[in-house]
Amino acid sequence: MGVDVEKILRPVDNPLPPFPPKYVTLASGDEMVIRQVDRSDIPDILPHIARLMSVERDYYDLVAARAMGELLAYYYHRVQDEYVLVAQIDGELAAVVNGRLLNQDVGMSYHTISLRRGMRVGAHAFAAKMEYHIDIMKQKEVLIVAESPIGFRRWMVEYKLEKRFHIPHELGGPPSWSLTKEIFDRARGSLVVGRRPVPAKLLAKAKAAILPPKDPPKPPVDLLAATRARYDSTATAVMGQRWDLEGRNK
Ligand SMILES: CC(C)(COP(=O)(O)OP(=O)(O)OC[C@H]1O[C@@H](n2cnc3c(N)ncnc32)[C@H](O)[C@@H]1OP(=O)(O)O)[C@@H](O)C(=O)NCCC(=O)NCCS
Repeated sequence: MGVDVEKILRPVDNPLPPFPPKYVTLASGDEMVIRQVDRSDIPDILPHIARLMSVERDYYDLVAARAMGELLAYYYHRVQDEYVLVAQIDGELAAVVNGRLLNQDVGMSYHTISLRRGMRVGAHAFAAKMEYHIDIMKQKEVLIVAESPIGFRRWMVEYKLEKRFHIPHELGGPPSWSLTKEIFDRARGSLVVGRRPVPAKLLAKAKAAILPPKDPPKPPVDLLAATRARYDSTATAVMGQRWDLEGRNK
């Protein structure tokens, strides 16, 4: 008797309403499009996240490793009710955010990864995913954790999230924090920005291709130096000493 194992392994997703794309004008003046992608786009995103697994700085390695699993699980239908949004500047991948529905009322925020630093692209992409849960999917709250101090500052501190410490989060089981509709309403106008509809040309450029990020976070030039540089995570001090010894700084 033949058994279709794939049918057993594959959860049946609930239909999710689509995220209506939006665009945000960054401090640099660039227009950034935030839009939902589907399974067929995942192979174009994976290599850029995979490279971050070797970037120790700001916990990119941990977050990228976990996000790889989530993106692959989405691609292979091994996770229930997941969605993925991307932020693009001129087609270039600037941020990736994802999450899923725990049930009709409660969302589970997975990851936010910024590939272009210093312009709050991660913050804007995170706001878009909260908008997806609260405004589009009409959920009551989203469960969130931070894996990095920057993430903690961006989500827990900036939004003033509420504790839900009795609920272990899916990302490793630490205590959850919650973004409720009331918290989101308070953040409107300051943390949640962007406009709709996205001008046709801008959206077409974003949809045409997910281009590689030009200046993504990279591992330090000298990994060994980085591991020795206790007070300098970029390791420039140790590399400088080495170059002195080698006479390269003369
Ligand atoms: C958390 C994260 C999504 C925030 O993204 P973001 O809003 O675009 O913010 P950035 O990372 O660019 O900037 C964060 C801080 O680093 C500073 N920074 C700016 N340029 C930087 C650079 N080239 N390198 C490092 N830090 C930089 C910024 O000034 C900013 O400080 P601020 O909070 O006072 O504004 C992003 O830092 C990230 O992807 N981190 C790794 C993965 C992660 O931790 N994800 C969240 C899991 S909870």
